[in-house]
Amino acid sequence: MEEALYHPEHGFYVSGSARTGQSGDFLTPVSPGPVLGQLLARQADELHRILGCPKKLRLIEQGADTGWLARDLLASIAHDHPALATAAELHLLEPHPKLEQKQRETLLAAGFGHQTRWHKNWEAVPTDASPCFFYSCELVDSFPVQIFRYRRGNWREMRVGLGDGRLIWQEDGVDPESSAKIRRWAAPEVEGFTVELRPGTARWAELWTQKIPLGLGLTLDYGFPARELFAPHRTGGTLRALRHHQLAADPLEKPGEQDLTAHVNFTELEELGALAGWTSYGLTDFARGLTALATPLLQKESQPTKPWVRNFLHLTHPSFFGQTHKILVQGKGLPVAFQPAVRGER
Ligand SMILES: C[S@@+](CC[C@H](N)C(=O)[O-])C[C@H]1O[C@@H](n2cnc3c(N)ncnc32)[C@H](O)[C@@H]1O
Repeated sequence: MEEALYHPEHGFYVSGSARTGQSGDFLTPVSPGPVLGQLLARQADELHRILGCPKKLRLIEQGADTGWLARDLLASIAHDHPALATAAELHLLEPHPKLEQKQRETLLAAGFGHQTRWHKNWEAVPTDASPCFFYSCELVDSFPVQIFRYRRGNWREMRVGLGDGRLIWQEDGVDPESSAKIRRWAAPEVEGFTVELRPGTARWAELWTQKIPLGLGLTLDYGFPARELFAPHRTGGTLRALRHHQLAADPLEKPGEQDLTAHVNFTELEELGALAGWTSYGLTDFARGLTALATPLLQKESQPTKPWVRNFLHLTHPSFFGQTHKILVQGKGLPVAFQPAVRGER
């Protein structure tokens, strides 16, 4: 999965072809228009105000791809939130040069190039005491997974090997660390039950939760709390391959030409955050979370435009992103009574 998505020359995401959006292989919540950026801007502004309008607030995005969400966020901040506009500084974490170039073009064209800094990874982000608003959209689902399947009374790892010149599945034993995690998530021991574990998640969570001294972290993605992700009916796991807006039959076919993704275990992210002193404000779906953020806009006297309503419905309607996509909200160092506008059940 790592090679298929991130090989420097042939990787699906980094080869230079458009992957997200109408002309790419799949739509993300960023694709339908600027409303997601506008709603995140409202949450960033609320954070800025609750902290007493500090002189600097860092907006950090990882996995910005085309840079459209960052552009939409900054445009809304410039237009709708003047106090935050003087404080906001955008930081994009981007290891891949072609994607960084794409993001530079997007942000320069919108006039935000001077406000933006790029870093290869979390280690390269300067340590700074200023508060942060960290957000990502469909980042974690693209971190590589390992696959395990219950077979004849034992868990087995499903590895990828070569056979007859093509990629094939090969069963192998399970290392003790993965075995402990599978037990931890109480995956049902039913013949054929398949689970994914994402080995990079713990390090990623450790990096961002330690680098950010205070602020909010919003993880937007599809997935479930662990009890739902590993529910007995979800027998086949969640690994999917996508190409040209269609589910592809075989994840091992056409490496580098199709997206590979698996659902996010939000309970794991919540627990990792808690270990590093981050409070969880809960998990909500887009329908509820984004409607909460949009409520003051919808209560204004001026009617929203048709394109705005279409974009908003695309984000919140149950047949589009409304139920599949979730927002995990985590915070650190914030006033005890603070309840962010977007929040879920604790
Ligand atoms: C599914 S796309 C989502 C893109 C965009 N956020 C959106 O919602 O349209 C996943 C993106 O995450 C990026 N990504 C994966 N791992 C990353 C990492 N460690 N650091 C930065 N970006 C990463 C990929 O290169 C890809 O651009």
